[in-house]
Amino acid sequence: MGQIGGGRHATLTVGDLAARSGVAVSALHFYERKGLLDSERTSGNQRRYRRDALRRVAFIRVSQRVGIPLADIRTALASLPEERTPTKADWARLSRVWREELDERIAALEHLRNDLTGCIGCGCLSLRTCALQNPDDQLGEGGIGPRRWQD
Ligand code: FES
Repeated sequence: MGQIGGGRHATLTVGDLAARSGVAVSALHFYERKGLLDSERTSGNQRRYRRDALRRVAFIRVSQRVGIPLADIRTALASLPEERTPTKADWARLSRVWREELDERIAALEHLRNDLTGCIGCGCLSLRTCALQNPDDQLGEGGIGPRRWQD
């Protein structure tokens, strides 16, 4: 749990942040443990969040919705100056990156779907010929990966 620098007031309780963001308190604590969110502590050891935490949580949720792993979201946030909450320009840039990653995952899933379509009505599950058993259409030679153990 870090102290928030910059002298800006942290006024939101975790309950406020949960209510306004629609994210459960447990998820907010989880984000904090993972280093995605930061808070100050009151003298009574209560968490307080700055108002920009709302936008930060919105960024995390939208990124997660696109399927971005938390570790990658953390890396993206850490790449911003002073780990600031993404500005409009930051989000425009990062969302372009997320879009490219989404395109790659869609292409990979379409490839997988095509391979699976070839299996429908087949049933061979051949380690030699089934595309899903051997996605690159070749058996690894001495490297990591599945080996042919039957035909
Ligand atoms: S099950 Fe026969 S090609 Fe996949």
